[in-house]
Amino acid sequence: MPGKDLLMDIDFGALYRRQARASTFQARTAADWDQRAEHRSRREKGSDYAREFLARLDLADAETILDIGCGTGNLALPLARRVHRVHALDFSAEMLRLLRANARAEGVRNLTVHRLAWADDWSRLPRIDIAICSRAMAVDDLSAALQKMNAQARIRCYLTLHAGTTFLSEDVYRVLRRPVVPRPGYIYAVNILYQMGLRARVDFLRTTGGLTYDTPEQFVEGIRWRLGSLTAAEEKRLLAYFSGLPREADGTARYRHDFEWALLSWEKAAR
Ligand SMILES: C[S@@+](CC[C@H](N)C(=O)[O-])C[C@H]1O[C@@H](n2cnc3c(N)ncnc32)[C@H](O)[C@@H]1O
Repeated sequence: MPGKDLLMDIDFGALYRRQARASTFQARTAADWDQRAEHRSRREKGSDYAREFLARLDLADAETILDIGCGTGNLALPLARRVHRVHALDFSAEMLRLLRANARAEGVRNLTVHRLAWADDWSRLPRIDIAICSRAMAVDDLSAALQKMNAQARIRCYLTLHAGTTFLSEDVYRVLRRPVVPRPGYIYAVNILYQMGLRARVDFLRTTGGLTYDTPEQFVEGIRWRLGSLTAAEEKRLLAYFSGLPREADGTARYRHDFEWALLSWEKAAR
């Protein structure tokens, strides 16, 4: 008789919650994301992240897709050309406004927009063939979110989570002189899915330009958006750090921090 699998006793959801709550990086509100919508809409069009992500999707037999945390449509819009209908979900009104504008500009009509948060009631959402959530799993209760995503899909799911544990490079923390409490990484999700009876495949996407700031003001604002308020002394040190960055060929300084993403995918156990 095989013995008991002790791994099944570990409450990865509780560990995730503890680590996320203690982390330097707290989840952003819908209003925070509203402020980033314009910038993201411009920057993400045709990014190498989007190319890499889309290239890894198996859409065989899929007619409908749900894109959770769709933002301004860098994935939902190209996907709408490949399937019958895309349902795009996000809690930021501004992201969705720009998504609709981008869809109009590109002549995409087979898109249904849902203004909902992860924690809202999704009972009115239709079941779809494939659920994707790209860089948008900002939740307190990871187990509940994974159950919710999995329940929505008939064929398979794709989820990208940050593979690293901080959203800024080490030197920024040195400049700030702040300790970093890491975010919980993708491995919590792999283990929770395992406990749900789902075997996730894990792939890694190394993409450039995870964070790029072209001016000292953008840089300080970007750090503030991620970490909350900064003291005047911290701002001053960040500006000095930015002006000391190596110059690019065009003579300008640019802060760049490349991210690595873990792409988890799993098939629905029973269809
Ligand atoms: C980093 S962007 C990712 C956009 C797009 N999926 C991509 O990969 O380029 C995160 C998106 O998730 C949305 N988001 C964050 N937390 C959310 C939540 N709790 N419920 C619904 N949407 C959320 C934000 O409004 C934002 O549009």
